[in-house]
Amino acid sequence: MTTIYTLDAVKQTYADRDVLNIDALTIQRGEILALVGPSGAGKSTLLRLLNFLEFPTTGSLNFDSTVVNASLSLEQRRRVTMVFQSPALLKRSVMANLRYGLALRGVTLSEPRLYTYLELVGLERYANQPARKLSAGEAQRLALARALIVKPDVLLLDEPTANLDPYNVSLIEDILKQENTTRQTTIVLVTHNVFQAQRVAHRTGLLVGGRLIEVTDTAAFFEAPQQSQTKDFVAGKLVF
Ligand SMILES: Nc1ncnc2c1ncn2[C@@H]1O[C@H](COP(=O)(O)OP(=O)(O)OP(=O)(O)O)[C@@H](O)[C@H]1O
Ligand SMILES: [Mg+2]
Repeated sequence: MTTIYTLDAVKQTYADRDVLNIDALTIQRGEILALVGPSGAGKSTLLRLLNFLEFPTTGSLNFDSTVVNASLSLEQRRRVTMVFQSPALLKRSVMANLRYGLALRGVTLSEPRLYTYLELVGLERYANQPARKLSAGEAQRLALARALIVKPDVLLLDEPTANLDPYNVSLIEDILKQENTTRQTTIVLVTHNVFQAQRVAHRTGLLVGGRLIEVTDTAAFFEAPQQSQTKDFVAGKLVF
């Protein structure tokens, strides 16, 4: 595997407080990396950096051998897509929402191609219904379809299955695994659900207080953690 992101001494500081302070992290092309950790640990902040919504206060972030800063090209930025925890949907139909991200990129797809993405997430019946009427699980699946349709190289997900029922959780997890296997899409998944990390991630990393405590193969992370904080986290002792 080759590296797609490299973080070197990355700090993100808000109002003089380091909310992120990562000595080193590399993310491999084609891997599924889960990020876990208590609330306020900096997980979403890290995703915002990986999505180029913010740039590190100090240190360096590289994406595919390009230094990430405000002059990163649109072409590079478009290779990365993010699904937020509470995705914003347009007050339009399900299909219009699906088309929107493509239209922003100047891409149009035929109706049958669009339908294949709705079928992927099980929403083909709702194509012409208002997106705002979807249930939480359906809305999350639409957000995922909207992200996948642009064929990103990197898919970033911030707690994509929080508050969803087991059916929707497993549906989304299956789609993520399939996307990773068929397109080698790099996936970074923030989750509060350790079982989800075990089910889908190749590697798992623990963030606490803005620091990356440990990142390793998922099996080793859960079965043979090296750091005491990881041991506590895996044992359910680390307070959320
Ligand atoms: N724009 C901002 N300005 C000031 N502080 C911020 C800003 N964004 C985040 N923070 C702070 O940075 C810390 C990390 O926030 P972040 O949202 O990354 O945590 P998280 O790990 O995603 O937490 P959660 O699991 O609750 O979503 C928090 O203490 C938060 O209050
Ligand atoms: Mg968060």
